[in-house]
Amino acid sequence: MKVAVKVLWISLAWLLGWTLFYLLNLQTAYSADLPGKKVFLDYKCNACHTVKSVGIVKVEIKDEEAEEEEGGEKVEPPDLSNLCSKKDSKIECTADFLDKFIRKQVADDKGGKHKKRFKGTPEERKTLVEWLLTLK
Ligand code: HEC
Repeated sequence: MKVAVKVLWISLAWLLGWTLFYLLNLQTAYSADLPGKKVFLDYKCNACHTVKSVGIVKVEIKDEEAEEEEGGEKVEPPDLSNLCSKKDSKIECTADFLDKFIRKQVADDKGGKHKKRFKGTPEERKTLVEWLLTLK
């Protein structure tokens, strides 16, 4: 009897583990497939940012696209993998805030505006922001 209970618990733990694993993978696969990822890459956001959770690595870009628009202190661009689940986030994870933030219309909690103004169309911006919101 005791052995049976042990086996039951082990099976349950095993099932739970795999379920969690699959759910996490689904979330990642989901973010990896959305069209916003393409906008992110097309506009070379990865000249500065990595998004490791969906396999986006940094690219070296030497033209002015990657250049910072403001002088001042150097801030290391963060990896955006868990953008919308960070506890100490400086930004609001809402469509409205992100939409303005990437156009440099609003500043983050520390009073800093984004380095780079997004130059895409409104539709591209919407697609991009929708994707950013899935990064958790
Ligand atoms: C020239 C480098 C550079 C480029 C290109 C760039 N960023 Fe950033 N980004 C930064 C830096 C530096 C920060 C952190 C400080 C700040 O807010 O400016 C940042 C912060 C962010 C944040 C907030 C992250 C956080 O956790 O607070 C988001 C979201 C973001 N960038 C999105 C984008 C998107 C989308 C693009 C492409 C359209 C992009 N970035 C292109 C440099 C860059």
